[in-house]
Amino acid sequence: MVCNPGSLVETPWPSAFEKEPAVARTTQLTDTFGRQFPYLRLSLTEACNFRCTYCLPNGYHAIKKDMFLSKPEIIRIVRGFVGLGVWKIRLTGGEPTIRTDFIEIAEEISAMEGLKKLAFTTNGYKLSERAESYFSAGLRHINVSIDSLEPDRFRRITGHDRLGEILDGIVECQRLGFETIKVNAVLLKDLNHDELDKYIDFVRSKNISVRFIELMRTGENKDYFDTHHLSGAYVSDFLMSKGWQVAPREVGAGPAIEFIHPSSVGSIGLIAPYSKDFCESCNRLRVSAKGNLHLCLFGELGYSLRSYLQNDGQIEELQEKILSLMKYKKETHYLHQGETGMTEHLASIGG
Ligand code: 5AD
Ligand code: SF4
Repeated sequence: MVCNPGSLVETPWPSAFEKEPAVARTTQLTDTFGRQFPYLRLSLTEACNFRCTYCLPNGYHAIKKDMFLSKPEIIRIVRGFVGLGVWKIRLTGGEPTIRTDFIEIAEEISAMEGLKKLAFTTNGYKLSERAESYFSAGLRHINVSIDSLEPDRFRRITGHDRLGEILDGIVECQRLGFETIKVNAVLLKDLNHDELDKYIDFVRSKNISVRFIELMRTGENKDYFDTHHLSGAYVSDFLMSKGWQVAPREVGAGPAIEFIHPSSVGSIGLIAPYSKDFCESCNRLRVSAKGNLHLCLFGELGYSLRSYLQNDGQIEELQEKILSLMKYKKETHYLHQGETGMTEHLASIGG
């Protein structure tokens, strides 16, 4: 951990940090290290309309026939996992909202019994005009990526001059009553690391959690990583020097560390996958847009579930397959030993 456990506070201040239902139900999804996996990140597409410099610097290029999961396949995956005790699902990508059937998919999943929380991650494209349709589809938890609060830098990082539009979209989400609004920012040396004060100001009076994500090395971004990677300790040291404190961990919470401050409504989180104990609290599984189960973000090619998704009668077979794969989940990702795994870029399995 990058933070000093001595700084733990006994009583949380009112803040935006996420309250997961404390181990609301048990899941059959456990591994040989005693971890439980109530959370599934499901990628709906590898395609994205942004060109974030650390992820898809040349934009997304379709490779021959990229056959992403169909809506019925997606629904079967979700049924399978929810039946095994998953209560939280995040729809991710690529950019999940570029699917023309995104709203229908969200509608169907949000109505599913047993699922407590359906979240999604988006780059915020056209958010101000689309927020209402997301809300109407039953979505209540949104993560928007905003890597800089300065319009020019935002444009340089993402290839889109859309910061203003995205910030308007967030205001619209607040107005509509989204329960959780999170902002993700990949921490980038010399590109946004000097904006921490701006993000602090941004959440001061808003029920929003900003999450700084340590830049991860992928198969394709080695030089970029060497230039722009900054340890998450930079963020925690900065916050603590300004009186922020580590919020008490919720039971079953994932690897993010949440910081709160008495004078801030919003909170600031840190996701630091290179920190030593990061994997201990791993609570998530991933399914890629091609239907591969990834037990870890890094380090393996994934196990194809696709042949178990072809008709509604296969749910038990699918669940048996998933359970049988859990024994392959490793203790850690070995990133701190320089491994990048097989992941070319995170648009392929959705961060
Ligand atoms: N390191 C850290 N985060 C990344 N993302 C994409 N690529 C990387 C990387 N190399 C994040 C995006 C977004 C989500 C889709 O994954 O910023 O928040
Ligand atoms: Fe698209 Fe997200 Fe990758 Fe940016 S980080 S290019 S928004 S998938």
